[in-house]
Amino acid sequence: MLCLSWRPYLLVLLFLCLAGHLNTFDVIVGNNELVYNGFPPDMNLGGQALWRGNFLSLTGALGGTSGHVFCSYPLSFQNHPGSPISSFSTTFVFVMDFNNHHKGNGLTFMLSSTSDLPDNLPGQYLGLPYSNSDVHVFFAVEFDTVLNPEFGDIDNNHVGVDFNSLVSVESQTAGFYDYIGEFQTIVLESEKTVQSWVDYDSKSHQLNVTLAPCYISKPQIPLLSTTVNLSSLLSLGPVYAGFSASSGKGSSGHYVLGWSLKLDGVAQPLDYTVLSIREFESHGPNYLIRGAPSIVLAVFLIVLAVLICRHLRKAKEDDDWEIKCGMPSFTYKDLVTATEGFSNKMLLGKGGFGRVYKGVLPTTTQHVAIKRVSPESKQGKKEFMAEIAILGHVRHRNLVQLLGYCRYKQELLLVYDYMPNGSLDKYLYDKNTPTLDWARRLHIIKGVASGIFYLHEDWEQVIIHRDIKASNVLLDDDMNGRLGDFGLARLHDHGVDAHTTHVAGTWGYIAPELARLGKATKATDVFAFGVFIIEVVCGRKPIGPASTSGDLLALADWVRGTWQGGSIIDAVDSELKDYDTTEVELVLKLGLLCSHSLSRLRPCMRLVMLYLEGGARLVDFQPASLVAGGREDEKVDEAVCASSATTVTIISGR
Ligand SMILES: *[C@@H]1O[C@H](CO)[C@@H](O)[C@H](O)[C@H]1NC(C)=O
Ligand SMILES: *[C@@H]1O[C@H](CO)[C@@H](O)[C@H](O)[C@H]1NC(C)=O
Repeated sequence: MLCLSWRPYLLVLLFLCLAGHLNTFDVIVGNNELVYNGFPPDMNLGGQALWRGNFLSLTGALGGTSGHVFCSYPLSFQNHPGSPISSFSTTFVFVMDFNNHHKGNGLTFMLSSTSDLPDNLPGQYLGLPYSNSDVHVFFAVEFDTVLNPEFGDIDNNHVGVDFNSLVSVESQTAGFYDYIGEFQTIVLESEKTVQSWVDYDSKSHQLNVTLAPCYISKPQIPLLSTTVNLSSLLSLGPVYAGFSASSGKGSSGHYVLGWSLKLDGVAQPLDYTVLSIREFESHGPNYLIRGAPSIVLAVFLIVLAVLICRHLRKAKEDDDWEIKCGMPSFTYKDLVTATEGFSNKMLLGKGGFGRVYKGVLPTTTQHVAIKRVSPESKQGKKEFMAEIAILGHVRHRNLVQLLGYCRYKQELLLVYDYMPNGSLDKYLYDKNTPTLDWARRLHIIKGVASGIFYLHEDWEQVIIHRDIKASNVLLDDDMNGRLGDFGLARLHDHGVDAHTTHVAGTWGYIAPELARLGKATKATDVFAFGVFIIEVVCGRKPIGPASTSGDLLALADWVRGTWQGGSIIDAVDSELKDYDTTEVELVLKLGLLCSHSLSRLRPCMRLVMLYLEGGARLVDFQPASLVAGGREDEKVDEAVCASSATTVTIISGR
C-alpha cells in the first residue's frame, strides 16, 4: 500500500541518479599527474573502445576488434630542449575476460607521440601501431596472451616491454614475487582484477614493471626490470598516455578499471572502494556488459523502488537490522541446506564469538565455514554492518576471506573460505596431529605477520585485529597461515565503554595497557603477535604452570627466565628438530620485544616484517632490559614506524 506512491520518488531518484552518475568519478588531472578512480567520458577513445559507466572497455563484443584510449590531454616530459626529462610512475587495474574459450590477444599501457593511431587490422598487434614508425614513436608494456616467438614472446601469458616495435625488449611470464620472494604466476585471462605498476627513471633509463592480484600491495621485487632509453619519445613534445587492446577470433573483453600516473614522483594509490572491482570479481564483466545501460538503469530503479518500499515499511521496526552492505549476502535457506540444518556433524568448533559450521553451498558446491554470531550490543548494529561490509573488501592471502553474510532474526551468519587444515593450535598441542617442522612454522609466522601488516598499514583504513592467537590462525590447502576473525572482537566488547570491565581478546595475549585502559591499538595487536610467535617456537600455551612452583606464568616471562638461566634456545619446543638456531633465536627475541610491557618500545609491523625478512637487524639486547623501563633509552626505529604513531580504527569505539 505504501508503494502506491512510488512514482514521485522514482522521478526524483532518476534525476539524482543521472546527476550523481556524472559525479561518481574521482578524477584528478593536472600537468604532471592524473588519477582516475573510474573513468570519465571525456577521454579520447579510438577503435572499439567504449566507456562503460565506471570503467573502460577496449575491445567490443564482437571478435577480432581493437581499441585504444588516451588521456584527453598530452603530457609534457621536457620543458624545453636540453632540460631534464621527467621520470614517471603509473599504476592501473585491469581485467581480461575471455569467455567461451575464445582467446583475446591482450592489453597494453602505452605512451605515444600521437593520439591519432591508425586503425590497424582489427584484432591484431594488441592495438599497437604496426608500421615502420617514422611518424609514430611509442612505448608499451604489453600484457599478452598470445605466443609470437618472432616478437620475442616467451610464453602465452607474459608481460613485455616494447619500444617502437612489436618485438619486445624484454618479456617475462606474468606473475609476481610474494613477500618471501617466491614467484607466483598470474593467469592474465582469468577474469581476475590485476594491478600493475610501471616505473621509469629517466636518468638511469631503468624501467620496472610490477604485477599483482588486486588488493595485494605492490610487491617489493619488480616482475621485470630492464633499461630502455625512452628519451627519443619523451623529449619529442607532447606525449599521449593510454591503453590499447585487441581481441582474437571470439568476443573477449579487455577492461581498465582505474589508473593513476605521475611525472617525477610516485603515482597516487588507487581507491579500490570506488573501482568496479567487486562487480568483476563476483559476477564477471559480462554481468555488467550484457545489459544495455538502459536496462541496467531500469533494473536499478526498480530495485531502488523496492528498497524504498521496504525502507518505508521497516522504518517503524526500529529493532530490525538495517544495512547498506555492498557485499554478497546469502539466504538463510541456502546456509541451512549447506550445513544440513546446522547439524552437529558439521560443527567445526565453538569460539568466543559463536559456533562455526562447515558447509557446502548448494549452488556452487564451494566449501565454506559459516560462523553464527549473535552480536550482544543492540546499539550500533548499523555501524557494525557497515564494518562487516568493509571487512568483506579486505583481501590478503594471509587472511581468511569473508565471502558474505546473512542475517536472520537476531543472528548474523558470516560465510568464510573454508580452511581444510584447521587451526594452528591443533598442530602445536594435539598429540594426534603431526608436529610442524621449523621451516613450516617460520613460514606461518611470516605469513601471519604479513596479514597483520596489511590490516595495520597497507589497507586504506587501519583495522585492529584484537584477537590474534594460535587458534585464530588457520591453515589453507598449502599450509599457509591465514588469520581469521579480524575485526570481529568488536562484537563482544560492548562498544569499549569505559564503564564496562570486559576486554575483548584472550588472556595471555592481552597487553597490559589494554587490560588497564581497555583500548585496542596497533600496539596491542603487536603484543599479541609477540606472544603468538613465542608460542609457535616453544609449543607452549601463553599462560602455563611454571616448571618449579606450578604457579601460573606468562609465556614471555617464562622464556625470559629460561634465557636468564642459560640459553634462550632452551625454550624451544622439544618436538622441534633440525632448526636454524639463529632463526629461532631471532623469532624468540622478536617475540619478547613485541610483547614488551611498554607499548612504545614494541616495533610496528613494518619493522617486524623487516626483521623477519632480514631487511633490518634486530639490535642485540639482554633479557634484563625487557623488564619495564629497562629499554627506555632505546627506541624502536621511528623512521620506519612513523606511520604507526597515529592509530585510527574503523572499529569506532565510543
Ligand atoms: C626498480 O626496482 C629496483 C629493485 O627493487 C629498485 O632498486 C629500483 O629503484 C627500481 N627502479 C625504478 C625506476 O623504480
Ligand atoms: C638516449 O637517447 C637519446 C636520444 O635518442 C640520446 O641522445 C642519448 O645519448 C641516449 N642515452 C644513452 C645513455 O644511450
